[in-house]
Amino acid sequence: MKFFIDTANLDQIEEAQQLGVLDGVTTNPSLMAKEGITGKNNIMKHYVDICTIVDGDVSAEVVATEFNGMVKEGEELADLHEQIVVKVPMIKDGVKALKYFSDKGIRTNCTLVFSPGQAILAAKAGANYVSPFIGRLDDVSTDGLNLISEIRHIYDNYGFETEILAASIRHTMHVIDCAKIGADVMTGPLSAILGLLKHPLTDIGLEKFLADYKKGNS
Ligand code: E4P
Repeated sequence: MKFFIDTANLDQIEEAQQLGVLDGVTTNPSLMAKEGITGKNNIMKHYVDICTIVDGDVSAEVVATEFNGMVKEGEELADLHEQIVVKVPMIKDGVKALKYFSDKGIRTNCTLVFSPGQAILAAKAGANYVSPFIGRLDDVSTDGLNLISEIRHIYDNYGFETEILAASIRHTMHVIDCAKIGADVMTGPLSAILGLLKHPLTDIGLEKFLADYKKGNS
């Protein structure tokens, strides 16, 4: 399972990269705004900054909503850096744009996916990644993890190569559950990744080992 971090915060990206388990980054316009990154030039520069920190794929989202605009923006984003994956929303023109980018060899991540039908369209249009938003489904009393299972089942039925990128991960159990289901990738906050480290028996065990070592070597 690949681990992506879902943030535009350079310090957090750096921390995850230093841990040695990071495979990529996802961003979106809200995450950029949260870091105070505004204006096209600053946003483009920020994507390049992210690419220089992390070794893997960096999703950069288009903000146009019609085909020609998406193509123009997507091509500019893809030209920025070889690690850029163009993030395209699951709307009608987005599906057309996914197919266009796929034919041109530009890698894509289809975002804002909330149903199995949308995931089928993304795969047929040639998206490299599909991003079902599990946390946002949970927020409206719908089982987000079930969507991951349904998409896994459908993609396996037909051998679709689109990678399932479980998005809108809110906590560590989401990561573990997505791994059990077989999501190819998860993208979440640093806290969800670091949460995987924690177990009280590890802390108690280490404390005891160190105390025993100290006794024998003092
Ligand atoms: C995915 O790529 C999105 O950036 C993200 O996971 C959305 O998560 P949220 O629902 O926590 O905003």
